[in-house]
Amino acid sequence: MSLLARVRPEIATFTPYASARRSGFDASVRLDANESPWDAADDGLAVARGLNRYPSPQPEALRRRLATLYRVDASNLWVGRGSDEAIDLLLRAFCRAGVDNIVSVAPTFGMYRIAARLQGAAWRTLDLAPDDDFALDDARLLALVDDNTKIVVLCSPNNPSGTLFHGERIERLARALAGRALLVVDEAYVEFAGVASAAALVEHLPNLAVLRTLSKAHALAGARIGALLAAPEIADLVGRIAAPYPLPSDSAHAAFAALEPAALERTRARIALTIAERERVAAALVRGRGVVRVWPSAGNYLLVRFDDATARFLELLDAGILVRDFSAQPALAGCLRISIGRPHENDALLAALGATA
Ligand SMILES: Cc1ncc(COP(=O)(O)O)c(C=O)c1O
Repeated sequence: MSLLARVRPEIATFTPYASARRSGFDASVRLDANESPWDAADDGLAVARGLNRYPSPQPEALRRRLATLYRVDASNLWVGRGSDEAIDLLLRAFCRAGVDNIVSVAPTFGMYRIAARLQGAAWRTLDLAPDDDFALDDARLLALVDDNTKIVVLCSPNNPSGTLFHGERIERLARALAGRALLVVDEAYVEFAGVASAAALVEHLPNLAVLRTLSKAHALAGARIGALLAAPEIADLVGRIAAPYPLPSDSAHAAFAALEPAALERTRARIALTIAERERVAAALVRGRGVVRVWPSAGNYLLVRFDDATARFLELLDAGILVRDFSAQPALAGCLRISIGRPHENDALLAALGATA
């Protein structure tokens, strides 16, 4: 059974908004979109040229460049406002409010639960044990799946634990869910994990979707560019229900620039530095004041348990260092998540915790 049969019926038969830029026509005099004919760049304002015009819903050159970067065919890719938007649209496409559910693990990235809540989908999780390094038991995860499960989402490396769930299990899980549910693998941090992306599998597995983003390794969080990699019918489906012009022109230009060969070379070097810094900071933190445990991480962050998370959080803030407090989450008592910064920022963190050699 095609997974499209699992889409909400009213979405399956939905006619998308026919925006002016989707018409396929072009002309030198454009009077089709009720835009202003004046370009603010001509008024001497410090803005990019062409902002008086609506952008392309899916800029072809950017799509092709992203497809090359992620080694998929352009037909397998939809580009939107960060991977957050793709998560939200997938839930809206598949989950009937008050009926369907989505399955994941806990702890994990908080936006899945929010998007489920907004759509009225139930949120089911398999609790992972910190004492077991957040290990995942696939059979127990699949036991949560029922006839109304539309999406199973795995964040790998997982935020905030840093745990990597990649490997043969991705294909095994997708096959176990075939025709029933979409397996979404959120690879927001995969560049720091030293493993192959699951993107190579989307060509063969029609119920696998992979989320990628330029927000992390590519240093473009402010541009809001993310990609959904999936079977063409899933990529098309998301494109049909997305806002008419999801990508601001400036953001598309920034993304294009960040994917130039020289920029990619810089990004690769920074990924290597971040990985080296992650390992250096993790090793040093063990000597830090109040540190109880540092979990291994495949992301650009570390999950750290302290004797007193609130006290350490405030101490760091006093030293001008902001980290993320996860201590209110079940199973994460005492935990702070610390992003890996530049070497001098990491040195400041270690010094503030008395963890220098
Ligand atoms: C696991 C995970 N997925 C997705 C996102 C959101 O990424 P984007 O900026 O592409 O929306 C984040 C942001 O922190 C994240 O941690």
